Amino acid sequence: MGPINTNEKGTGTSERFSSSKGFILAAIGSAVGLGNMWKFPYITGENGGAAFFLLFIACLVAVGLPVLLAELSIGRAGRGSAASSFVKAGGGRIWGKLGFISVIAPFLIMTFYILVAGWTLHYAVLSFSGQMTAGVDFDAQFVKFTGSYLPLVWAFVAMAIVALVVIKGISGGIEKFNKILIPGMLVLLVILMIRSITLPGAMEGVNFFLAPDFSKLTPEAGLVALGHAFFSLSLGMGTMITYGAFVDRNQSLGSATLAVGVGDLIYAFIAGLIIFPTTFAFGIDPSSGPGLVFVALPAAFSAMPLGWLFGGLFFVLLAIAALTSLVSLLQVPVTHAMEKWNWSRNNAVWIISLLIFLVSIPSALSMGLMKINIGERNFFDYVDFFASNWLLPIGGLIVTLFAGYFWKTAAKEAGLTTKWFRIWLFMLRYVAPILMIFVFLHSTGILKFE
Ligand code: PFF
Repeated sequence: MGPINTNEKGTGTSERFSSSKGFILAAIGSAVGLGNMWKFPYITGENGGAAFFLLFIACLVAVGLPVLLAELSIGRAGRGSAASSFVKAGGGRIWGKLGFISVIAPFLIMTFYILVAGWTLHYAVLSFSGQMTAGVDFDAQFVKFTGSYLPLVWAFVAMAIVALVVIKGISGGIEKFNKILIPGMLVLLVILMIRSITLPGAMEGVNFFLAPDFSKLTPEAGLVALGHAFFSLSLGMGTMITYGAFVDRNQSLGSATLAVGVGDLIYAFIAGLIIFPTTFAFGIDPSSGPGLVFVALPAAFSAMPLGWLFGGLFFVLLAIAALTSLVSLLQVPVTHAMEKWNWSRNNAVWIISLLIFLVSIPSALSMGLMKINIGERNFFDYVDFFASNWLLPIGGLIVTLFAGYFWKTAAKEAGLTTKWFRIWLFMLRYVAPILMIFVFLHSTGILKFE
C-alpha cells in the first residue's frame, strides 16, 4: 500500500499500523492509563491488597481477555468504526445502532479524563519547580487547585497534545507516539520502583501488596475487580474495536490479546510496587481513596531526599499513561466521523477535540468555582459515573452477545485453534455476560450487598 494522505476525505480505516510491535504497543498504551496508576492502587488498598490483586488477575484472564479478543476481531473483520464494524463484520443493522453507544462513551470518558490528565501535568510542574515541599498542606493545595480555573488551562494543553498526535494518523501519529512513550514509561516505572522499595520501612508496603489476606474478599470486591479489569483493558468503549480496524490481516490477534493483558498487568504491578512502599514508609493509609495520588503521595515525596525529582517523574509517568489512553479514545469518534459523515481527519480531530473540551468545562467548574450538582454528585462525578458504570458495561455486553451468539464467522476472524475457540466461546456466552450484568447492577447501585 502506498503512502496515505491522512487528510483525504473518507479515508476511514484504509490506514494500517505499520508493524505488529507498533500495534501492540499502541494497544498497551490504551490499556495502561490512569486506571493502572491512580485507580488500581487505591481500590487494591481499599479491598485488602494482594488478595484483591489475585482476583483482578482472575477477572482479567477469564473475562477481560476473551472480550478484548472479541473487540479486536470485530474491528478487523469489519474495518469500520466502533458502530459500523458490527454490521460490516456480518451483523444486522441493529448492531450498528447498538454499537453507537461505544462511540458516545469514549467522548464522555474523555471529558473528565482530560481533566485528570491536566492535573497530572500541573503536579509535574509543581514538583519540578520546587513547590511541593515539606510543610505544604497538600489537601488544601489540591482543593484550591481543582477549585480554580487552572485545571481548564491544563485540560486544554492535554487535549491539544492528544489532538496533535491523532491528527497525524494511525502509523504516523498514534503508533509513533506509543512506540516512544510505552518503553519510556517502563524506564520511569523501574526508577521509581527502586526508589520506593529502598525507602526505610518500605517492606511493610511490599508485604501488604504481595501477601494475600483472603478474608477481605467479599462479593463486592469481586465486582469491583471485574469492573476494573474491564476499564483497565479499555473495553466496552469502542477503542479496541477501532484499533482492530487498522490491524494487518497477518497479525495474530490471540497473541496480541495476550501481550496486551500481560503488559497491562506488569504496569499495574509495578505501579503497586511504587505506591504501597511509599505510602507505608510515610505512614499514609493506602485506602485513602482517589486523593491518594494527588494528596497523600505529594506529602510523601516532599519528605524524601530529591523528592522534587521523584515526585516530578511520578507525575510525568501519570501524564504519559493518561495521554496514551486518550489518543485511543479520541480515535473512536474520529473514525466514526470520517467514515459516516465523510469528514477529513483534520476536521474530525479539531471539531471533536473542541467539543470534548467544551463539555469538560462544566465538569471542571463543578469541582469548585460553580457547584453544578445533579442529585448528590457534582457534574464531574456524574459524567464519570454514567460513562464508567452504565455505558461501559452495556458496551461490553453488546460485544459479548454479538461475538458469543450472533457472529457466524467469529472462529475464522479470531484465528484460534478449535480447543481455544471453544473455551473462548464458552467465556463469551456464559461467563462474561452474566458477570457483566452483575457488575452493571452493582455499580449502578441497583444491586446492593448488605
Ligand atoms: N484503560 C485506561 C486506564 O486504565 O486508565 C482507561 C481507558 C482508556 C478506558 C480507553 C477505556 C478506553 F477506551
